Amino acid sequence: MSLDFNLGAFNDYFRNETFRDDFTYANSPAGIRRFPFPFDRDDYMYSVNMEPHVPGRKGSVFEHAFDVDEHYVSEMIDRAKVLASDPLRCQSLPHMTLAGWDLLELIMEAKARDYPQWFTLTKDGNRWHWINRPLGIDHHFTFLDDSTLPYGPFEYITRQTQGDFTLQDERDNDLWMDAGMVTSQADWSLDFDIGMSFMEWHAPVPLAHEKGIFDRALKFLLKLQHGAPVRRFNWTMTVNPLLDTAPETYPVWGPTKTSLTPENLGQKQHLRVELQALFRLPRSNAIAFSIRCYLGRFEELVTIPKWGRRLHRVIRDINPDVAAYKGFLRNRDAMVAWLAGYDDGAPTSPGFWPED
Ligand code: HEM
Repeated sequence: MSLDFNLGAFNDYFRNETFRDDFTYANSPAGIRRFPFPFDRDDYMYSVNMEPHVPGRKGSVFEHAFDVDEHYVSEMIDRAKVLASDPLRCQSLPHMTLAGWDLLELIMEAKARDYPQWFTLTKDGNRWHWINRPLGIDHHFTFLDDSTLPYGPFEYITRQTQGDFTLQDERDNDLWMDAGMVTSQADWSLDFDIGMSFMEWHAPVPLAHEKGIFDRALKFLLKLQHGAPVRRFNWTMTVNPLLDTAPETYPVWGPTKTSLTPENLGQKQHLRVELQALFRLPRSNAIAFSIRCYLGRFEELVTIPKWGRRLHRVIRDINPDVAAYKGFLRNRDAMVAWLAGYDDGAPTSPGFWPED
């Protein structure tokens, strides 16, 4: 058994696009309207911004636990390329295999329930049959028997699921990042962080430690219950629609930050939004963390007038330490100058929905 994709033709829904080289990635008009714009007000500071991960508005990225969108097939192809060039982007310490099975079950059940046109899961005791139509996968395997899959359960399912994933073991009143599939990250390294505790992997973040944000977040997470997942947003900026902004490849993409001009900024500069969700897993008691990345080109985002106004104000007024940590301080003034053309000074309504 292998996990070679057996792709049907890309169709009207799944876009055939690239996140590297010629960068043909784009959002359709419908994709722009469902973009998870992360700012619910005209300013931004770190906070413990967590809410229940319950089904949200129909058609929005919150509708289902694991959003499958028009970029699905192309993102999975990009992930396979990253893993082929650097297998250490997926690691799972030996004690995390059961958590990998927990995650496989969670994702397969959710996708088969929420997208029956694309995914089917049939169970006969521990003998499971999984069909993933967009990727052309049709596998029979035995649940909890690693020898029946072409990869470990964690790698197997995350090669078929958009977004990065980490699995946290809980020990000594702390969380330990003991597994990860990380190919679309905002400049942090799984290979560096694997085995670290919650405070250790968050050490580089400015301001949030002093504000007590990580103390409160960890206490909250240690109480997370099975069946009651939570979610939060994070965001940063990326030049070009590059999913894989890893420290390991910084020499390749870092210099593109110097390529922005007033003429190309709207086309090259992307708001990078992470919709993160946390799930307690039933058998292992581990916590799964999903980090789903959405890229929105500035030119696309300002087609929603409220978002154009608000993005201008947020970037103009952001704390310079936060902009420096997120890696866009050098381009902040150029972004503000470009965005100012889309801010007429009108008030914006509370909340992030485009039409409100
Ligand atoms: C187990 C769950 C979590 C994992 C695995 C995780 C992982 C990470 C990682 C790897 C980073 C990048 C650090 C670096 O620069 O190297 C980060 C940043 C950050 N995390 Fe978490 N995190 C988790 C939960 C949370 C929660 C619950 C909060 C809530 C307050 C939070 C808030 C932040 C913030 C504010 C940043 C800085 C982001 C930025 O400015 O771009 N994290 N996290």
